[in-house]
This record gives sequence, structure tokens and C-alpha cells, in this order.
Amino acid sequence: MSTFPVQTPQRTYCATVERGILERASAHLPAGTGKVFVVSTEDVWRHQGARLRRGLESFRHELLFLPGGEDQKRLAPLEILAGEMVRRGGDRSSLVIAFGGGVVNDMGGFLASIFMRGVPVIQAPTTLLAQVDAAIGGKTGVNLVEGKNLVGTFHQPLAVLIDPAALDTLPEREYRAGLFEVIKTGVIRSQPLFRMLADQSEQVLARAPEAVDYLIGESVRIKAEVVSADEREGGLRRILNFGHTIGHALEAETGYRRFLHGEAVAFGMRAAVYLAESTGYLSAEDSVDILEVIERYGPVPPLEGIAAEALLRRLTSDKKTVQGRIHFVLPVRIGEVTVVSGLDERLVLAAIWSALG
Ligand code: GLY
Repeated sequence: MSTFPVQTPQRTYCATVERGILERASAHLPAGTGKVFVVSTEDVWRHQGARLRRGLESFRHELLFLPGGEDQKRLAPLEILAGEMVRRGGDRSSLVIAFGGGVVNDMGGFLASIFMRGVPVIQAPTTLLAQVDAAIGGKTGVNLVEGKNLVGTFHQPLAVLIDPAALDTLPEREYRAGLFEVIKTGVIRSQPLFRMLADQSEQVLARAPEAVDYLIGESVRIKAEVVSADEREGGLRRILNFGHTIGHALEAETGYRRFLHGEAVAFGMRAAVYLAESTGYLSAEDSVDILEVIERYGPVPPLEGIAAEALLRRLTSDKKTVQGRIHFVLPVRIGEVTVVSGLDERLVLAAIWSALG
């Protein structure tokens, strides 16, 4: 078991990585908790629900399903679920367990933050992407047609329960999409993690428990450290957006249906590496290393029919664009990044072209 404290002005809590933790979930519910609402999807519940059901033992809990899928990450399903919570006896003593992938963690957290002006949430992520990133740090929200995560809150969970065994039933494509977020973490802050991904890809792709536990633990350690230093993304937390600026544009442009979030991040990282190398921030050698590791954990679905100019236009409506200035997180070496803004649009377009292949 590894436990990583997340210390924010809003709350201090632990992200715990432990095989079997879902079956001991009730140990993490505070005394006096009223009705527990498990927010999940039918798919996650079918594959992993039995573990959490055992973990909640005698706690009275209600199950609520979200539709699932990034294109369903909208406000409307939350109104329906909130009404359902009221009808099933939810009150201010209620607690939400967000049990699923990144979409469920973001939406379940958002629902908890607005239900009766806020009830606690426990994050129980079941995809690799959610375990290493989405479930930690308190960001919640939904998409608008205009862009990703444009409506949301910061609502830190009471605890994050990360069970690597939950990945056993994760589809291969989802697993690989999560690995792109792990590559991101290595590039921004952990050379050892990056090297492990480069040198042990067979074990990683075979989901060897030792490899999986290491890469989750190291990613969670880094996420906890970054969020503890900067809860509201005023500074350091921006480094977590490596690959996200252009990745978000790709997701929005394709209606959130064609690419998984991690795949879009892989695309965005390719573009950012191009930008970093062509502006002289990154050596050609490190650039090749990063691109090779991204390639190894691919493929990213085909990119035909996507216009670079359309993605460029999308960048300006991303919430990471402040007063018209687009910020890019660029690697300077493996394990270190910098944030730059004011890059020439023609260069950004060339980077997008290069990532489109
Ligand atoms: N997923 C990026 C962040 O939590 O800041």
C-alpha cells in the first residue's frame, strides 16, 4: 500500500494506492455519513461493481448511473441525478462515491459539489487515466459545445481510493489511453518514470502487477505533490496540461466522440514536442525519445479529415487561453517543462500539421 497526502487550502486528504482497497471502502467513510450515493456507469458497475458492493458492507447506499462517454459529459444528466438523489432521501449528510473513469470522477465530483450546496465526495477511479490524474486534485466539471470542462468547480474529495486490480477488466484501448497520461507525467516531472516506460514496455503493456503498481504510484505521488503546491492552477499545476491545450482542441473539434482523452493528449504532446524542438527549448535527442515512447504505446486512432486551421481556432476558446494568449507547456528535457505563451500562430499551425502526420 502507498499513501500520498494531498494538502490543499480546501482540504487535506490521502490518495491511497492499494490492491483490494475497493473491498475495504467503508473504512474510508466518516462517522455520521448519511445516505451514500454511488455514481457510476452501467458498464463499470457490471465489471467492477461487486468489489465496491462488498466494500460498502452494511452502509446504506443507492446506485445512480451516468450515461458514460466524453460526449455525454454535460450538465443535463446531472440535473436528472440530483433530482433522483432528492427522491431517494439524499440530504446534507449524504456522500457521493464517484466510481468509474475520468468522466464519472469529473461529473460525480461536480454533482457532489452542487448538491444541497455541497456534500462530500470520495473518488474511486477505475480506469488508468482516472487513477493517475482525473480523480486527484479536486477538478470537477462538464463540457460545453464550445469547449471542454468549461463549467465546473474545485471540490477536493475526502479520499481517493485507487485499486490497481480494477484495471484487470479495462479494455486495451482505455488502458493505452491512460498510459499516455503516465507518459505525460514522466516527461513533466519524472525521468525514472519515463525511462521505465521506455525500457519496460512489454511488462507495462502486459499489465504486470509490479510495473502497473510502480507507474500508478509514481504518477499519483507527482500529482499529489503538484496539487499540494498549487490547488487552483495559478502556477505549478499548469505543467499538468502538457499535451492538453491542443488535445482539448482535438476533442472539441471531433465532438468528444472520436478520441479518448488520453489519445487526444498523445496528439497534443506530439505537437508540443514539435513546438519545443523548433523553438530551441528541447534537444533533438530528447524529442526523438519522447516521440518514440508515445509511438510505442499507440496507436492513436486515424486523424483523417481534421483541419489544422480548425484546431488552431479552437485553441483560442480553451479556458487555458487567458486574455487571448495561448499557453503551451513545453518540455525542456525529460523530467522538466516550462510554460510559454505568445508563440507565433504560424509555428503553432506547423506543430499541428506535424502532429496530424
Ligand atoms: N488534469 C490536470 C489537473 O488536474 O490539473
